[in-house]
Amino acid sequence: MIGRLFGSLSQKVPSFLYRASLMMKPQVVFVLGGPGAGKGTQCSKIVENYNYTHLSAGDLLRAERAREGSEFGQLISNYIKEGKIVPVEITINLLKKAMEETMGKDEKKFRFLIDGFPRNEDNLQGWNTAMDGKADVKFVLFFDCSNEVCINRCLERGKSSGRTDDNRESLEKRIQTYLQSTRPIIELYEKHGKVRTVDASRSVDEVFADVKTILGVE
Ligand code: ADP
Ligand code: C5P
Ligand code: MG
Repeated sequence: MIGRLFGSLSQKVPSFLYRASLMMKPQVVFVLGGPGAGKGTQCSKIVENYNYTHLSAGDLLRAERAREGSEFGQLISNYIKEGKIVPVEITINLLKKAMEETMGKDEKKFRFLIDGFPRNEDNLQGWNTAMDGKADVKFVLFFDCSNEVCINRCLERGKSSGRTDDNRESLEKRIQTYLQSTRPIIELYEKHGKVRTVDASRSVDEVFADVKTILGVE
């Protein structure tokens, strides 16, 4: 009887809702660090070795900028070139959509590396408003690197990246934004014992060895 009832129920409930009821709450690691600290590089290596999905806020904004018909294309373009942080309403929608799409396709993919977010107070408030109770932030993975190393890596990347912000003028602004707006967010998480810091000035493999140790114990 119960079996029959359950069987007939699961047929009637729309499959998306049925699947959603089985889903795990998203488990999130925020990945922060200066421009060029190696966030994207390390996230790719994590994805190769662990069951995480990498969502870069910057990549999502660049894709939205390029999307035909986007009402935010010009705004995003201006913000990126000026090294300013795009209003969170735009970014949080892109992140939410990407998370929902990932979990909608495969409910086992509930672990996310959210790279380059939250970058300022507005980002953090937007996350708290939209995601309160809907996702667990495990910790912040912080790639710590001097401004000089960050700038040099971005200038090197700029030779082939085609990015409008990998040039000296934009980089100076991005570093200022990082120091003034992002560092205080990292410090806030630090106060709650939620920051795992890696010395990102070393080689890719040395940095990744530390990352593995951190992910291994979490
Ligand atoms: P972010 O996402 O933090 O801006 P990226 O991962 O895109 O940084 O790296 C910036 C540039 O520096 C890229 O050209 C990348 O190949 C290079 N890079 C990344 N990590 C290292 C490292 N540990 N040592 C030297 N170069 C690196
Ligand atoms: O992380 P990434 O270097 O790709 O970010 C590039 C730019 O995208 C930032 O300098 C900023 O202008 C924009 N951005 C943003 N908000 C975020 C992440 C990135 O406005 N949370
Ligand atoms: Mg990046």
